[in-house]
Amino acid sequence: MATTNGTTRATDQRDAADAGDAGGPSGPAGDRLRVAVVLASTRAGRFGPVVADWLLRRAAEHGGLETDLVDLVATPLPSTFPAFGAPLPADVQAQFAAVSPRLEAADAFVIVTPEYNHSFPAPLKNAIDLHTHQWHAKPVGFVSYGGRSGGLRAVEQLRPVLAELHAVTLRETVSFHDYGDKFDADGQVLDPAADGAAKSMLDQLTWWAHALRDARRLRPYSA
Ligand SMILES: Cc1cc2nc3c(=O)[nH]c(=O)nc-3n(C[C@H](O)[C@H](O)[C@H](O)COP(=O)(O)O)c2cc1C
Repeated sequence: MATTNGTTRATDQRDAADAGDAGGPSGPAGDRLRVAVVLASTRAGRFGPVVADWLLRRAAEHGGLETDLVDLVATPLPSTFPAFGAPLPADVQAQFAAVSPRLEAADAFVIVTPEYNHSFPAPLKNAIDLHTHQWHAKPVGFVSYGGRSGGLRAVEQLRPVLAELHAVTLRETVSFHDYGDKFDADGQVLDPAADGAAKSMLDQLTWWAHALRDARRLRPYSA
């Protein structure tokens, strides 16, 4: 469900899922980049949507980006791995149909992730592993949150996983340590430096997304 400024709120996505509409890609206007924002936490009572909504607002302000929130609660994927080449049951096909085309259509990704036991949540690994070419030759930025570590251990563990999938992870990351102190009750960030960090990350994401999209158009990426 895109808002008029081309963004999707995490809360909107949940509402859409409740209404039986898991959302989907809509055509980007002009030369805008399509950014899939993957919300990794699926925990009941999770904090993740606050962080994702903040990032979506930053992306809307940044300009040139059309965001599509891929919320792993709204669009769950199978937790058992299908047999190689086996036909998928209809219900599993429907689960993939709600996610895979959106990852495929993305020019870039931002993963919004908490840190669980010094790593990233299992549903995110599942969503990554269940896809292949959708990640290839595309940039991935991170927004992480957690305790003292700010989720950075989750991010550092994501880098080699995504390298295996031919993705390019960005140096600049956005990280909220002791995240509970960093947002007010309305979901606004209290530390003004966070907006600058988001801009740096989105600047890099934009550069890489354009460079890699141009390159893929010129010469299809083969892995
Ligand atoms: C299973 C589990 C493991 C966790 N491990 C860590 C950790 O290693 N480091 C950390 O900073 N926070 C850890 N936390 C605390 C999370 O940062 C905190 O619960 C946060 O709210 C999780 O994000 P979420 O609410 O969006 O799920 C853990 C939380 C859970 C549920």
